[in-house]
Amino acid sequence: MRRFELDRYLRASKRLDLTGIDFDRVSEHPLSEAEIRCLTYMMDIERHTVIYLRDLLSTRAAKDPDVTAFLSMWVYEEFWHGEAIGAFLRAAGIDYPTARTAEIRAYADAGKALVNGLKMLAGKVIPEFVAVHMTWGAMNEISTLYGYRQMIARTQHPILIELLGRIIKDERRHFAFYYNQARARMEGNRRAQRLVRRALGSFWTPVGTGVRPQEETDYVVCRLFGDDDGLATTVEMEQEMSKLPGLGGMRLMRRARNRALKRMGVTSRRSRLPIAAFSA
Ligand SMILES: [Fe+2]
Ligand SMILES: [Fe+2]
Repeated sequence: MRRFELDRYLRASKRLDLTGIDFDRVSEHPLSEAEIRCLTYMMDIERHTVIYLRDLLSTRAAKDPDVTAFLSMWVYEEFWHGEAIGAFLRAAGIDYPTARTAEIRAYADAGKALVNGLKMLAGKVIPEFVAVHMTWGAMNEISTLYGYRQMIARTQHPILIELLGRIIKDERRHFAFYYNQARARMEGNRRAQRLVRRALGSFWTPVGTGVRPQEETDYVVCRLFGDDDGLATTVEMEQEMSKLPGLGGMRLMRRARNRALKRMGVTSRRSRLPIAAFSA
């Protein structure tokens, strides 16, 4: 990533601006069970970012001052995303106990210990593994960004639309950083390209997998990406990722979507799960 791009990012970084978001009026508009469940997932995952950072910093990524400069701002911005969604849910009458975050962390650490351990070890000993982390980050940020976009397209709640619209602007910058890092590290480096392709193919799962129970991840994936429009969106994300050196024709996101649909019992268009809308 060119120096001026990083500088521009660092200068632009700030706490999510909630000016004009009228939390007092949130409860005036209905929020469906599906919306609450998806937003709760999003809040939990945003709040988990600092733990993800801990894992990342135990790898060689910590030695790169550009990467750590970015991560310092990034974790701060994600923190405020979690807080903003939490405040929105609270305003809608859904208040979670403060112990929730600690419980989720204990659950996530227990469940992902092996995979995280392997990734951290690989990140320590293999120089090119930073490329895996950067590509992984790009995958997570683009799916978060598009996930919020899908949510906006399907909700009737005007304040939620405004709030998510502001969060998306941050996610777009996050994606740009990881994506540019991934490209710079894979360009002209066949070894890195092969490693990224193999590692993602073996380990990549949608954001938040293992942090929350599998059925919660599957539910959100199906709600946001399960219908035909969601499929088109999934393909769009993959096409963007496929432009990275060595990642041509990747189908990881479609594979993850199909697996989630299958586990949720959605096998045909006549399925009972109303995945297209947030009406139920
Ligand atoms: Fe975020
Ligand atoms: Fe982000």
